[in-house]
Amino acid sequence: TGLVVAMDGPSGSGKSSVSRGVARALGLRYLDTGAMYRAMTWWMLRQGVDLADPAAIAARCGEPGIVSGTDPDAPAIHVDGVDVAGPIREAEVTGGVSVVAAVPEVRALLVALQREIIGTGDIVVEGRDIGTVVWPDATVKIYLTASAEARARRRSAELAGSTVEAQQQAMARRDTLDSTRKTDPLSMADGAVELDTTALNLEEVIAEVLRLVAE
Ligand code: ADP
Ligand code: CDP
Repeated sequence: TGLVVAMDGPSGSGKSSVSRGVARALGLRYLDTGAMYRAMTWWMLRQGVDLADPAAIAARCGEPGIVSGTDPDAPAIHVDGVDVAGPIREAEVTGGVSVVAAVPEVRALLVALQREIIGTGDIVVEGRDIGTVVWPDATVKIYLTASAEARARRRSAELAGSTVEAQQQAMARRDTLDSTRKTDPLSMADGAVELDTTALNLEEVIAEVLRLVAE
């Protein structure tokens, strides 16, 4: 297999921007697994599936056709042919995604899809369980962190009209759900390198990851 870089960590730690930068620099593909959980959540909401009912989510999660692109310059995600790149970032999806992602049947399905895409490698993959579950044999495993305040500041700078405080609260709720769920919770993989990005800028983080890959 070719190179596989596994990039895990909590929301706003910089996974997407760092992964895309690293993929671009090395001419690798890029997979955003969070976008796949978001796409599944978008579909469930649109179908009127009750997100408080894990059995209903499990029963229907095989229905949507989720197709993820791997170009770091043009991240793409489609559900049954519909481009959902915009809608999956909306507050309703963000608020529901951790509940959908906690359903074991959803994870089994999306992990299988992710492994198929990774295939022969040459890819940077970001998510919560890449180094622990999806691809434990990754060439390099990175666990990105940053202070809760720094992460909330970054996210609220992206989203117009959201305060740092509101953002920090919403992220803390999602981080707690993601790290306490029974199936494949967010945790640092064996052999992962922890990189605290609180005091670093994007270029510095990308340079550090490139250094780790070259080792
Ligand atoms: P994640 O994928 O982990 O949620 P993102 O890559 O989406 O994180 O980063 C969230 C925001 O923070 C983006 O606007 C990004 O440009 C910014 N950002 C990421 N890493 C850094 C960093 N080291 N310093 C400053 N801003 C950063
Ligand atoms: O937007 P943000 O970077 O915070 O999150 P994301 O990477 O888009 O992931 C959204 C949600 O999907 C997470 O909060 C997790 O609940 C779930 N997820 C997961 O369970 N496993 C993954 N490998 C990726 C995402």
